Amino acid sequence: APLQQYNTFGIMARAMNLVRVQSPQDIPDFLAQPPLGASRQVVVLGGGSNIVITGDVEPTVFKMEIMGKRLVEETDKHYIIEVGAGEVWHEVVAWSLAQGYPGLENLALIPGTAGAAPVQNIGAYGVELQDRFDSLDAIDLSNGQHFSLQAAQCAFGYRDSVFKHAPAETMPLTMIARATGVAEPRGMGLAGRAVITHVRLRLAKDWKPELGYLDLARKQAEKGIEHPSAQDIFDWVVEIRRAKLPDPAQIGNAGSFFKNPQVSADQCEDIIAREPKIVHYPMLDGSIKLAAGWMIDACGWRGKSIGKAGVYDRQALVLVNLGDGEGSVTGGEVVTLARAIQTSVYERFGIQLEPEPVVW
Ligand code: EPU
Repeated sequence: APLQQYNTFGIMARAMNLVRVQSPQDIPDFLAQPPLGASRQVVVLGGGSNIVITGDVEPTVFKMEIMGKRLVEETDKHYIIEVGAGEVWHEVVAWSLAQGYPGLENLALIPGTAGAAPVQNIGAYGVELQDRFDSLDAIDLSNGQHFSLQAAQCAFGYRDSVFKHAPAETMPLTMIARATGVAEPRGMGLAGRAVITHVRLRLAKDWKPELGYLDLARKQAEKGIEHPSAQDIFDWVVEIRRAKLPDPAQIGNAGSFFKNPQVSADQCEDIIAREPKIVHYPMLDGSIKLAAGWMIDACGWRGKSIGKAGVYDRQALVLVNLGDGEGSVTGGEVVTLARAIQTSVYERFGIQLEPEPVVW
């Protein structure tokens, strides 16, 4: 099956076997009796907005198409909504606002599906998925069994969760540790081992606008609205993203290509001494987050390209497909450009940038 229309970079590649997962039961059914010739090794495809495909895909691709959006619980303090893994994230955000459950507005227009949202703990404009997450349902690929995870068990971090770590890797369940102050309990990574089927979000009735992020505060001043509604914030986030980030329907891309690196306060002081203009943000735990986009821009990469892989001219953290259709960028070109950027950022700042998308 062709994958070009299923990855937002628009890279041409094929899947040897593609299974449309429309109900959780399709997964144990597949595991019990895989179609002739289909690999038992599985990769999960949501909106394809966080992958770089470097060749034809040998493992069986599960294309997640489990749908459904509904209110499953209402308490005096919260609405809890449940969405199928295959729902388009932005449509979930728009639907929740229309239903009168605010809280997801800062996460408007993030490409991808609801099922992928917990994997990398999507975040934008001062809100991360973990701030609105309740729990999820998944299926264990080793035995076809259903299981559920609460927030603490997902070990959310910045663009990180238990789903990004190999099963052999034990990892701290940082949220439990933060909440209880006890030594960090440890869990096993679930990468490649579980498929998320449903996600539940917990939206507070006592809604408060989140306007701390500089771009949003600027937008608020520009609009002159002192007490914006959730719908106002949704509209502003959409405007900001449209101005800065390429629409994958027009220019292939996978969002931010690198994570913003976190360094200690001491390390940051050294860097500032050499690079006084570097954009940086203090984190709650005392560490400092550096703006990778600023560093890449400072190295002169904005608007540059290698083959058909380009650096977006309005946001250097985004790599784009300069080709189209048959002449699309290859995964190899994207990886080559990413490595060249990593090398120049390392040479100038002594910082190793970590890619955000997963390379297939
Ligand atoms: N900057 C430059 N030149 C550039 C790009 C950025 O100087 O070419 C500067 C900006 O002026 C700003 C700073 O770097 O002072 C940070 O840029 P921006 O506000 O655009 O945010 P970001 O840190 O680059 C992150 C997320 C985005 C998210 C925005 C808004 C990561 C890896 N990226 O980008 O998430 O939408 O903040 O919250 O954390 C994604 O993950 O795919 C993504 C798009």
